[in-house]
Amino acid sequence: MARVGFIGTGEIAALMVQGLAGQGHQIMVSDRNAQVAARLAATVPGVTVAPNAAVVAGSDIVILCLLANVADAALAGLPFRAGQSVISVMVDVGLAKLQKLCDPASDIAITIPLPPIATGGCPLPVYPASAALETLFGAKNRVFTVRDEVALNAHFGATAFCSPFLEQVLTTAAWLAEFTGDSDQSQAYLRDVLCGYLPADGQNGHLGAALKSLSTEGGLNATLRAAMKGANADLRAGLDGFRGRLGLEGKTE
Ligand SMILES: NC(=O)c1ccc[n+]([C@@H]2O[C@H](COP(=O)([O-])OP(=O)(O)OC[C@H]3O[C@@H](n4cnc5c(N)ncnc54)[C@H](OP(=O)(O)O)[C@@H]3O)[C@@H](O)[C@H]2O)c1
Repeated sequence: MARVGFIGTGEIAALMVQGLAGQGHQIMVSDRNAQVAARLAATVPGVTVAPNAAVVAGSDIVILCLLANVADAALAGLPFRAGQSVISVMVDVGLAKLQKLCDPASDIAITIPLPPIATGGCPLPVYPASAALETLFGAKNRVFTVRDEVALNAHFGATAFCSPFLEQVLTTAAWLAEFTGDSDQSQAYLRDVLCGYLPADGQNGHLGAALKSLSTEGGLNATLRAAMKGANADLRAGLDGFRGRLGLEGKTE
């Protein structure tokens, strides 16, 4: 069991605390946001609330859940120590800066949790490898250790694909509902269809095999895909548009 501290008790911290519940960890959350902190202390066994300095002093693993624009001011002067593990989920605060802000702690990693972290089944890309992350979240979530910070940043961009993808699902459901008269049922149907086609494991070429199984020449699947060929180029252009913002310029294999 670990002593785990959260600096910044907002939306993602609350979900991560829920994900850790029931495993015997001692969890300390900072007193901002006070309302969220009080709710977590009241509802999750093992959670206490303390000022930032006490959270850092009393934790083996510190999880940073601040917005980037307050990180400098919030972390300055906190009693980080050598041998302590730090996990940051902050977008736009790179490793070099974290190392300065959390000195002398040096076991520092960045990961990207998503809301399913509250229950498990959340993919967790991380750089560098983090034993602390594995210990806390590895049992219920798949950890994807990546080769460098650029690779990690590219995950922020790739994850954004879910938004246009869901919009396409909704567009298709709306089209279907024009014939069924039942919007809810149409959305539920498409969700189940998608889950049914997605392979349990994305590795070992399984995604490609799933697509191949939907490629019979002249069939409806292949016909619609051909009609939408331009959408792939748009997707690729949109992803490439993130290169400057995510520090990916000129980085490809
Ligand atoms: N939400 C997500 O799904 C998600 C996913 C992956 C990564 N992230 C990243 O996680 C970070 C937090 O996001 P969020 O959505 O959880 O934001 P949020 O709900 O706004 O939480 C940020 C928290 O930081 C607190 N805070 C502000 N100044 C502080 C200080 N000096 N000391 C201690 N706490 C302070 C805020 O408290 P007050 O309300 O009192 O100001 C607030 O509770 C961001 O960098 C975001 O990019 C978020």
